[in-house]
Amino acid sequence: MCGIVGYVGTRDALPLLLSGLQRLEYRGYDSTGLAVCSADTMRVVRSEGKLQQLQSKINPTDFVGHTGVGHTRWATHGKPSDQNAHPHCSEHIAIVHNGIIENYHTLRNEIESDGYQCVSETDSEIIAHLILKTLRDGAQTLSLALRGVLPKLEGSYAIVLLSEREPERIVAATNGSPLVIGKGKNEMFLASDVTAFLSETNHVVYLEAGDVVTLEQDSIDVVNHDGMPVSKSSSEITWNITQAEKQGFRHFMLKEIYEQPQVLSDTLSGRIDAANAHVVLDEISIDPALQKLSLIACGTSFHAALIGRFLFEQLARISSSCELASEFRYRNPVIGTDELTVVISQSGETADTMIAAQEAKRLGSKILAISNVIDSSLPRFSDHVLYTRAGPEISVASTKAFTTQLVTLALLAIHIGVQKNTIDDTTRSHLIDELMMLPTKMADSIRSSECLQDIIVHYENARGFIFLGRGNLYPIALEGALKLKETSYLHAEGYPAGEMKHGPIAMIDKDFPVIALAPQGVLYPKMKTNIAEVKSRGARVIAIATEGDKEITSLVDDVVFLPDIHPLFLPVLASVPMQLFAYYVADRKGTDIDQPRNLAKSVTVE
Ligand code: AGP
Repeated sequence: MCGIVGYVGTRDALPLLLSGLQRLEYRGYDSTGLAVCSADTMRVVRSEGKLQQLQSKINPTDFVGHTGVGHTRWATHGKPSDQNAHPHCSEHIAIVHNGIIENYHTLRNEIESDGYQCVSETDSEIIAHLILKTLRDGAQTLSLALRGVLPKLEGSYAIVLLSEREPERIVAATNGSPLVIGKGKNEMFLASDVTAFLSETNHVVYLEAGDVVTLEQDSIDVVNHDGMPVSKSSSEITWNITQAEKQGFRHFMLKEIYEQPQVLSDTLSGRIDAANAHVVLDEISIDPALQKLSLIACGTSFHAALIGRFLFEQLARISSSCELASEFRYRNPVIGTDELTVVISQSGETADTMIAAQEAKRLGSKILAISNVIDSSLPRFSDHVLYTRAGPEISVASTKAFTTQLVTLALLAIHIGVQKNTIDDTTRSHLIDELMMLPTKMADSIRSSECLQDIIVHYENARGFIFLGRGNLYPIALEGALKLKETSYLHAEGYPAGEMKHGPIAMIDKDFPVIALAPQGVLYPKMKTNIAEVKSRGARVIAIATEGDKEITSLVDDVVFLPDIHPLFLPVLASVPMQLFAYYVADRKGTDIDQPRNLAKSVTVE
């Protein structure tokens, strides 16, 4: 949610912190701050708003030092303001914190009664005071002081601290909020996300819950809370920073939409044996006794889960349920040992999703993660992992991560179906052919959805939008509405078309347009009836229809045609007009498309 970047080495810390913060800004962007220290001097600057505002406050000649930490914030406790921005200080200590300290009221009372004064409204500032107090009480080093404080903290955290009294090191601890070390030559980076330092090094060491690390320019010392050494291995990141840059597109969201033909092909690559019409998922092994699947996720990934249910039930005839991760944990779920929990998360860091996965594992289920970010927390925690291979997704509004999740789920469903003998050879071969056509048909869908750029001018005065779909396109209606809400801040709802008449139809009039997912197929006649119902109440309608459908043009105001594909894979193609509609509307409105207000790319707090 918030972003952290730290540096200790031989170079000036300031420019490295600023470029790291720039790359992390997608994680949280309501305020930023940084601290740079050298012997006996620490300079700290904080600012409400985006990084540019922070930069305008900095005179680089004042921020000299080879050690520093920066933070970009997504407010939880206390509004976005200079005062609530990190780093938080207590005398010679500066800390940044991601996560939430749940018992901070108690701790704040305690520390204030000891004479320490909190100047912010955050839950984070108390950590700085607690560390100073622990040092004053006799802790010999920053690391010992931090270890002394950690047992008092309830909740999740990634904490990084530095002091002008120990300017040659940064010290950090993590519990439920990610931190990764970047190893350079005579320098170390520490960040909540590798993108912060990937332009400098691709050698990384991931920290786990309970780790306390001391970083110096040429050493990494990791211990547990009791001070026992923890051995760590390093790995190499294989994607590079140019993949995370805009490459001529006006926004990351648009770039990521246009990358979909390529990334779908990456998702399929090596996972299809075309000659024998087989799915090859050597990465995982599924228990043949598997009887039930639970799919758990949040937001867009949850919409992928809803579509996954169709795939698993139809192709593998396996009973499947879907649940929002934030609800799962608190309903005392019943999980059988013959059940597999499929947990979907682009970032692999979403707190609600992680906690739900932990709960499912605690109840005896095996966990299969579907994630985009290699070695993020969820894949590391899970029993099996399928990576979606979408490459870095920077836009807060998820696009390519979603469609690659759908393709991954399709591969998994075919894999399990073959294992369970629920797919005959002819069907399997047809499904494989259709899957392999997806990248090309995705490119066609993008081309044909570009007409929305002109169409949206007719919808400028809308009070709100309703997206209608049936079957496996109902989740796409939900996704279309979510994309529009996120990027344009407009009221939008996704609805199963059959439910319209049970309430929402009351909203319909000429200023409340409908986007109807109406491809040809078994549910087409029903969708035409729903379209007629809203048309007769004055709604303007955009239909997402099958290429070559001549009838639909006479029934609606505007049409986007999609190539024909197996109905189980249609959600992949139907995502595109949803994404481009949201993008074009937002662009016309002039919102901050890649960093919508109040949102953050990875939601690492509950
Ligand atoms: C998608 O556009 C959203 N930004 C959001 O709903 C997101 O999908 C959700 O927060 C889950 O994220 P995850 O896939 O990284 O777990």
